[in-house]
Amino acid sequence: MKTYLVTGAAGFIGSNYVKYLLANYQDVNIVILDALTYAGNYGTIASDVDGKRCVFVKGDICDAQLAAKLFAEYPISVVVNFAAESHVDRSIENPQLFLQTNILGTQNLLDAARKAWVTGKDDKGYPVWKPGVRFHQVSTDEVYGSLGKDGYFTETTPLDPRSPYSAAKTSADLFVKAYVETFKMPATITRCSNNYGPYHFPEKLIPLIIKNILEGKKLPVYGKGENVRDWLYVEDHCKAIEMVVRKGRPGEVYNVGGHNEKMNIEIVKLTIDTIRHIMETEPKYRAVLKTEVENINYDLITYVADRLGHDMRYAIDPTKITRELGWYPETKFEQGIVKTIYWYLDHQDWVKDVTSGDYQNYYERMYQNR
Ligand code: NAD
Ligand code: DAU
Repeated sequence: MKTYLVTGAAGFIGSNYVKYLLANYQDVNIVILDALTYAGNYGTIASDVDGKRCVFVKGDICDAQLAAKLFAEYPISVVVNFAAESHVDRSIENPQLFLQTNILGTQNLLDAARKAWVTGKDDKGYPVWKPGVRFHQVSTDEVYGSLGKDGYFTETTPLDPRSPYSAAKTSADLFVKAYVETFKMPATITRCSNNYGPYHFPEKLIPLIIKNILEGKKLPVYGKGENVRDWLYVEDHCKAIEMVVRKGRPGEVYNVGGHNEKMNIEIVKLTIDTIRHIMETEPKYRAVLKTEVENINYDLITYVADRLGHDMRYAIDPTKITRELGWYPETKFEQGIVKTIYWYLDHQDWVKDVTSGDYQNYYERMYQNR
């Protein structure tokens, strides 16, 4: 058995990863560390936490004492770091919080792992690591900046972050690289494109518009809606991470992308069409609507002021992970979005739960005068 420390697993991708691990790998025990910020929800993982194969610890990745205690208490040999402030719009409001969690938190985890995993020094003074240990950093394609109409991000594309969020994620990546070079830490990084799927907090484009359509609210589209994102179904991402943790070469970066480029406005229209079709053909779902079926149309689309420094296009070239590890994105966007919409229709209690805190204030602050 191996014990994984999975940080940020009460959030979107981390929770999907824990569920994926528990369902597919019998050789893994999990310690979840999550601060339960606005984006973390214990209910999302409550059924996975059994106190044996999966334990939950509420805490901050910036807390050095807590990290040391976890390494002392559990035989952790793998760290998968999802914990982060993840929303670009919030990073424009409060950059410092992103620096705190995304950079200092990551460096704190790197140090805690180093202290726990180094057993001595080699003849050149480099640390000797316990066999089989791995630190995995979950990063983002946003570290590469923004593309024009053509081209793809590869692992050698120069780093060019443009938002406070991506600047902080880039800094975290650089710390991981620094630990690889300086201490020979067995660490890997994945940089992936936009994820979508179950348990996605409704501040991000897809779950936000699903929620708003069901409530008959306006759909805020930034700028002209022509920005392009490369959508990756979250379970495909979880598979990629686990392949890299198990088989990826230490010290390497792997790009993970869905080959599913879409303009934002295409996604909004497809989501409207799909929800309208479901409501017309499966009347049982009308119970979740807070509007009439006839109101589900393109009139809901509202073009609002653009995001500051809005990156135009992201597109990943995942050749390396496909060639080296055999990973490829299995879910086409047209299938994944339908699965996602049904998941939200079937989990309105979850949406209610995660939006019961400060969500309404955030929403008004973000969109009222936009
Ligand atoms: P999320 O916002 O849904 O979840 C983040 C989780 O981290 C939450 O559970 C939150 O409580 C926890 N957290 C935040 N600060 C913490 C702290 N200081 N200590 C402990 N826990 C803390 O994020 P997500 O969308 O699931 O993203 C997960 C990771 O994947 C992030 O590192 C993000 O940068 C990266 N990523 C996300 C996407 C995407 O499309 N969502 C794409 C590429 C990379
Ligand atoms: O590319 C990976 C990144 O994808 C991750 O690193 C981030 O953590 C994740 O949040 C995501 O960032 P984006 O900024 O691309 O995702 P978001 O869902 O916020 O926005 C997607 C696109 O939709 C973007 O072009 C902005 C636009 N948008 C977003 C919202 C919330 C709108 O037009 N209207 C909206 O209300």
